[in-house]
Amino acid sequence: MAGKFYITTPIYYVNDQPHLGHAYTTILADVLARYHRTLGDDVHFLTGTDEHGLKVQQAAQQRGADPQAHTDEFVQRFQEMWRRLDISHDDFIRTTEERHKKVVRRLLQDLYDKGEIYQDEYEGLYSVSEERFITQRELDSGEFRQVEKIKEQNWFFRMSAYQQRLIDYINEHPQFIQPDHRRNEVLGFLRQPLSDLCISRPKSRLEWGIELPFDSDYVTYVWFDALTNYISAIGYTEDQATFSKWWPADYHLIGKDILTTHCVYWPTMFMAAGIDLPRTIFAHGWWLMGEDKMSKSRGNVVRPLDLIDQVGVDPLRYYLMRDMVLGQDASFTADSFVRRYNADLANDLGNLVNRVAKFIRSNFDGKVPVGVNDENSTLHEILITRTKNVVSRVPELIGAMRLHEAIEAIIHLVRNVNWYLEQTQPWKQIKSDPARAGSVLYHAAEALRIALQLLHPVMPSRVEAMRAMIGASDIPLSDFNWGALISGTPLGEHETPFPRIDKLAATDEPAKPEEDEGVTFADFERVDLRVARVLAAEPVAGADKLVKLQIAVGDGERQIVAGIAEHYDPKDLLGKLIVVVANLEQAKIRGEVSQGMLLAAEDEDGNLVLATVDDPDVEPGAKVG
Ligand code: ME8
Ligand code: MG
Repeated sequence: MAGKFYITTPIYYVNDQPHLGHAYTTILADVLARYHRTLGDDVHFLTGTDEHGLKVQQAAQQRGADPQAHTDEFVQRFQEMWRRLDISHDDFIRTTEERHKKVVRRLLQDLYDKGEIYQDEYEGLYSVSEERFITQRELDSGEFRQVEKIKEQNWFFRMSAYQQRLIDYINEHPQFIQPDHRRNEVLGFLRQPLSDLCISRPKSRLEWGIELPFDSDYVTYVWFDALTNYISAIGYTEDQATFSKWWPADYHLIGKDILTTHCVYWPTMFMAAGIDLPRTIFAHGWWLMGEDKMSKSRGNVVRPLDLIDQVGVDPLRYYLMRDMVLGQDASFTADSFVRRYNADLANDLGNLVNRVAKFIRSNFDGKVPVGVNDENSTLHEILITRTKNVVSRVPELIGAMRLHEAIEAIIHLVRNVNWYLEQTQPWKQIKSDPARAGSVLYHAAEALRIALQLLHPVMPSRVEAMRAMIGASDIPLSDFNWGALISGTPLGEHETPFPRIDKLAATDEPAKPEEDEGVTFADFERVDLRVARVLAAEPVAGADKLVKLQIAVGDGERQIVAGIAEHYDPKDLLGKLIVVVANLEQAKIRGEVSQGMLLAAEDEDGNLVLATVDDPDVEPGAKVG
């Protein structure tokens, strides 16, 4: 029975350049939204941008821009990326919109009136990069950047009062936090006493935010502001009918990085305000850029989102959905992309479409032939049974968020159709018994139509093209309607759906400086100098001079090997902000991969001093030049 389906993505920091991770969550939400639309559900798919906070204020200041103008410009990069990726969101919320700010202020006032908010002095560690206070333990984990010690008067939400209720709720609702190992992680976190949540920032430190309705010296903490998007966008306190139509959300999709804010802050805020909790918060794993992000041969770099230009959007969507086991991390490599594309799309699916369409074009006047219900044919029966099984299996797998298995099951059906054609050999019958050959083709095309229908949410535009090539149309699969393909329908224009790929072209050539007397500014610009944070450092075994460093450069982590062991004790390097050449060709030094080079000054005695940045406000990844 059709119902409603409300799904959200995180709202992304507007300052970021949209990258593979953002694209992944948004495509996943899109696939689920499209899938539920095919079931006839009333779907509401929300995405958007997180536009307040210190990072945005600082970035705008650096450019000498007004923060609103800055966000107005940067939000377009996300909107443009979602257009390119064929994202079918129903709404895009920006936290600087009045419809959002109004609701945040109301929620705050309501909690304040209920005595859930009080003022106190606060002293603690603040991570600017994550925009939240962190515990000493979290600091010690080394996972947080740009940490400052802060002492100030602030406003607090009585989060601690909800600790036990939250634990009970989580235990009573196994669907609330998914997958199971993430639920256990949250329960583990809740074993320590929960503190109250600081929900304000003094304007003296941060102006770019939503003013507290009860104290104009403060703005709202950016996470309190951001989380509220999920209800402000659907009219909480503004439009009761719309709100109660969609709420509670069916899925908040998030990455594992923002589990605590969504599974602890958000539900306790709701408990205090008396709002129902969302049905499921689903945290997926991390896309890691595989070591051969640089393809092995020449150190060439293939940037995932640049693949859209080379192979189109749908193969990228397919790869991302097929190659990540939901809940676990996955590794993106150019090689695995090419392998997956050639095996599933070019070989299995593309060949089947070519085979069926070409055979019908040349033997049946380009029109879908007549299918005879051949009860005596075992092969025919097997094909129908297998198709039917997949049609019932796919919803179960999607419901259990096992998308990669659902896709595998569909491709398996495609292989079964190829098998059916191998067994029936219509090309041998076409002269002696054209009606029978036509019937075989009809049934192959019918099973293919159903496979395409199941794949539509993943590859909407390619599926529509392929569907036309076999004379099929968009017919929902709500019940198993074998035989819905209409004989006599002319096939549409044919084009090879997935041409084979030999090798992806590099989209990011490493700099090859020309030998010259002086370098031009353009030459200099090709050297990508970046600030990096040292996350870990250890000596390279068997090499006296070498240290192996794990560094954070913007949104990625990587390893470099440097000849500084005689000058620095590795543990003194931890946390330092150093300067690196980020686009140096990848090398292997003593068997260790090195992706970049650090800069150091050398005095006359051969002592090395690292080039470092001493302002902790500079983020790793910041460009030097
Ligand atoms: O955290 N692999 O925004 P954000 C997979 N504004 N997904 C990834 C990823 C990766 N390597 N990197 C990022 C914020 N993501 C807040 C959210 S919500 C009320 C506020 C995805 O721009 C993943 O969904 O840092 C992750 O949770 C999100 O991007 C973080 O985006
Ligand atoms: Mg982030």
